[in-house]
Amino acid sequence: MAVKEILLFPRDEDKLRKKSKKVKKIDAPIQKLIKDLKDTLLANPGAGLAAPQIGVHKRVVVVRFGQDTGEMEPPRALINPVILEEGPLGKGFDGCLSLPRISTWDTLRPTWLRFQAQDEQGQTFEMTVEGIDSILVHHEVDHLDGVLFLDRLPDDGQLYIAIQTEDGPKLVPLDMIK
Ligand code: NI
Repeated sequence: MAVKEILLFPRDEDKLRKKSKKVKKIDAPIQKLIKDLKDTLLANPGAGLAAPQIGVHKRVVVVRFGQDTGEMEPPRALINPVILEEGPLGKGFDGCLSLPRISTWDTLRPTWLRFQAQDEQGQTFEMTVEGIDSILVHHEVDHLDGVLFLDRLPDDGQLYIAIQTEDGPKLVPLDMIK
């Protein structure tokens, strides 16, 4: 079990903005990286995590599909993910473990997409995802290119911050960190 520290925006922006390199061989260090990513994701309230978020600039992400079914799948690794085809853009929910407590419903991402990746055994596969799973894959692939969800927010986009109140957690508009 190795839960890693997640890099934060804006403190670690230089590392979060760096592009990640393609994985050439799925060897022991990559298997260890995947395990660390899964352990770290499972220890945090998120559906996806990219290697650069723990300071490793390799094209590996872990995702948990099925957020909107009420039962999230266990994390699975996508190695060298490439988006092959995208549907029309739509506004949707976005949040990021590197920007804790910040969220929006306004980022523009494809409503569905088809991608290719390698699995942990090195097998290349293709998959089509839609809705929240499409947002998730698009968000994680963005991390590998140094793109943060703030970059996908239109000019009139609204950010919210979760604060603790006497009545429990509450989302408050954040004006404006862009
Ligand atoms: Ni993120």
